[in-house]
Amino acid sequence: MSETVCHCMDVDRDTIVKAIKEKNLTTVEEVQDATSAGTGCGGCVPDIEEILAENN
Ligand code: FES
Repeated sequence: MSETVCHCMDVDRDTIVKAIKEKNLTTVEEVQDATSAGTGCGGCVPDIEEILAENN
């Protein structure tokens, strides 16, 4: 398990990267729908944006 990105929903970086690659996600909203990361307090949204930028 890689580093936890979203603590509210307990979603780690690998899960997000995998979803981005497998489903060709490009927006935070799509990542939220696919993994539920970022759907709690919203504090990890900038991190999700960074992961999106790194993987697109
Ligand atoms: S840490 Fe991801 S929504 Fe709160």
